[in-house]
Amino acid sequence: MHQAVSSHDGNLFIERTPLSAIASQFGTPCYVYSKSAISDNFLAYQNALAEKEHLICYAVKANSNIAVLQTLAKLGAGFDIVSVGELERVLRAGGDPAKVVFSGVAKTASDMRRALELGIHCFNVESEAELELLNDTAASCGLSAAVSLRVNPDVDAQTHPYISTGLKENKFGIDINLASQVYQRAAQMSHINVVGVDCHIGSQLVDIAPFVAALERLLVLVDQLAELDIPLQHIDIGGGLGVRYQDEQPPSPHHYMAAILPLLKGRSETLVLEPGRSITANAGVMLTQVQYLKSNGDKNFAIVDAAMNDMIRPALYQAWMDIQTVAANGAEAALYDVVGPVCETGDFLAKDRSLSICAGDYLCLMSAGAYGFVMSSNYNSRPRAPEIMVDGDQVHLVRRRETIEDLISGEHLLPSAEG
Ligand code: LLP
Repeated sequence: MHQAVSSHDGNLFIERTPLSAIASQFGTPCYVYSKSAISDNFLAYQNALAEKEHLICYAVKANSNIAVLQTLAKLGAGFDIVSVGELERVLRAGGDPAKVVFSGVAKTASDMRRALELGIHCFNVESEAELELLNDTAASCGLSAAVSLRVNPDVDAQTHPYISTGLKENKFGIDINLASQVYQRAAQMSHINVVGVDCHIGSQLVDIAPFVAALERLLVLVDQLAELDIPLQHIDIGGGLGVRYQDEQPPSPHHYMAAILPLLKGRSETLVLEPGRSITANAGVMLTQVQYLKSNGDKNFAIVDAAMNDMIRPALYQAWMDIQTVAANGAEAALYDVVGPVCETGDFLAKDRSLSICAGDYLCLMSAGAYGFVMSSNYNSRPRAPEIMVDGDQVHLVRRRETIEDLISGEHLLPSAEG
């Protein structure tokens, strides 16, 4: 996948812009994305699927900034959403609702109504109870809901337990062994139009074998359904490939599709994919500034101005993310834990890293374009960071830094007791 950042004489650049210039102009912490890297990563999937009827639905949850969605919408992307908030972002960005698939285990009737009104491509339904509510909701709107059942193929994705979703013990989807019965019920419902099947077995997969195993199981089901006179129009194989954070060697979309497409040879179903991380992770970074250097005995800390509220992946998943100095400064290298200002021991970005740094230096957290800003919060009443999109020689602020006023704008004092 396209790595947005390059190094020249120890100075880091995104496209042709030095990251140090962005850090000084916009302040830190901040997120910076490369438009061309996002586009290239999307086009890699599109090119790999040139020979097959397909719909690539970018998983909005990975990075939902409307400028990112706009970039992808212009390339013809569809979108995989998990909330009405994401749906409204897609619309704002110029995305086509007819290319939207709606995932998620807990859609409410009001979510369903909005998506029905807009005529989305399909609902990825995760339980029989959801199917019933969707049928009733569609009936009350006088509409019909296009449905794909998310089945759980019981495949071990061999990724972090928090982002592994395709095992029987996970909350997601319908047991593949029970799916045929649920399809038969769905086919009889007055306001349900059965159109597809889908699964999502996990994220940050760097091995193709679990994807292949899941698709093989789906195809057995699809053929059984055809015999029951329930033909499907699409097969959705869920999220995309993992990315390189450290030394992982993820396959390219081309290699991934070279393993998948032979299984679909001669079949008419459209292939749907929901990649998120592999489109945006390596297209973005987070910049932060060293505030203080501190030693406790033989442990060195670099205390930076970004915290777990800005980037939670290391704290939440023990994720290893690369961190580099933005500009060479000639300082002596030492081992540091890079930690933030939040009052929690879990507030770290990186541990035991060799860095040549002084207070005031900018650091770049690599591969932070997916599951970065979107998972940020205001914990410790920290305003959220700005997002910047670099496009060739242009640098655009695509979300401004929050202000203290933003932090409290929805809150109210209690009426005063004196009246
Ligand atoms: N489709 C569904 C139904 C999903 O649940 C997900 C991700 C995707 C697609 C996109 O998967 P991707 O192509 O990005 O692997 N916050 C975690 C990752 C959570 C992924 C959740 N589902 C992290 O930072 O690693």
